[in-house]
Amino acid sequence: FEVTWDAAAAEKGGWSSFMAKEVSEDPEAVANTLRGRIVDGLPSLGELGALDDETLRGIDRVQIVACGTAAYSAMVGEYAIETWARIPVEVDLAHEYRYRDPIVDERTLVISISQSGETMDTKMAVQHAIEQGARTLSICNTQGSTIARASEAVLYTHAGPEVAVASTKAFLAQVVGLLLTGLHIARVRGTMTDEAIREVTEALEALPDQLRTLLAEQGEIRELAQWMSDTRSVLFLGRHVGYPVALEGALKLKELSYIHAEGFAAGELKHGPIALIEPGQVVFVVVPSPRHQQGLHAKVVSNIQEIRARGARVIAVAEAGDAAVMPYANQVLRIPLTLPLLEPVLSVVPLHVFALELATAKGLDVDQPRNLAKSVTVE
Ligand code: G6P
Repeated sequence: FEVTWDAAAAEKGGWSSFMAKEVSEDPEAVANTLRGRIVDGLPSLGELGALDDETLRGIDRVQIVACGTAAYSAMVGEYAIETWARIPVEVDLAHEYRYRDPIVDERTLVISISQSGETMDTKMAVQHAIEQGARTLSICNTQGSTIARASEAVLYTHAGPEVAVASTKAFLAQVVGLLLTGLHIARVRGTMTDEAIREVTEALEALPDQLRTLLAEQGEIRELAQWMSDTRSVLFLGRHVGYPVALEGALKLKELSYIHAEGFAAGELKHGPIALIEPGQVVFVVVPSPRHQQGLHAKVVSNIQEIRARGARVIAVAEAGDAAVMPYANQVLRIPLTLPLLEPVLSVVPLHVFALELATAKGLDVDQPRNLAKSVTVE
């Protein structure tokens, strides 16, 4: 009689991969990022230390630097911080930042986003910002990491260790960290009423339960991925905060499945990508909530019609109750209702699960995709 004990399997806690385990931890990752940071319905980020209220009132621009998945969370942050705090925000891929000679001074807040806190490109961008006199905040998942230590203040996401190379739960936590930061700046600068802030914090606090519900309903995505296991190209479209979600869906799919995957801003469709639309092409469309301002929902539904008219297949990721997509999409993946700016935290989940399931259906190693590293510590 021999006891076989597989240490790796035990670490995965019964899941087939670290990635599957980490996706299942999305609700806790978000809950842990929020924990202790909302008091009486208002953001409470005492940990920002040197970036006190007076400093934040004196800031006249925000720049966010990051790489990979973290850069997509940064794009979501851009929309939220500008909307709530009414301050100009720019997002840079960290490796491009210093080479464009950005305008930075002591009234600039540079926010770096990094799961590992060790990405060399991001670290160099932070260093450039410091040399130019900027104030620096990092949103990191790894305690005591290099980027966290180099920054004046750090907001830890507390998503727990992420082992799979492809980032999942950390992305959700980064978005939530940026949303909290945006609300905090809005409060300090007086650009939102407490009542308006409370509406958002209430929606933030509902996310962990909504994620649990959503994760329990992912069976149809597994079927879809199995059905699509021979697909050679998938396109992803999104608009507003759904745009970075489309980019993230495409990144995850190419990283894990080694198939051509590309994300576009839906409004850009007619300026080029529509040439790729042909019968059989699968297009995921992240549909903005019908409650979105400026009629965005109708515009994206019209994109779906254009895609269908050319014989392609549309998989829509849409809010529960959005009936307008039904006549046009081939399949609708539903997400629970939240505020439009918070949607990425939910709409990215089916795309993460799809990438995981498609790679699994192809028999690939989802935790260690070829040629990739969890943390890229060289420039
Ligand atoms: C690598 C990883 C990506 C990650 C990126 C940024 O490319 O493979 O999953 O998004 O680095 O990593 P960071 O630790 O800075 O968030």
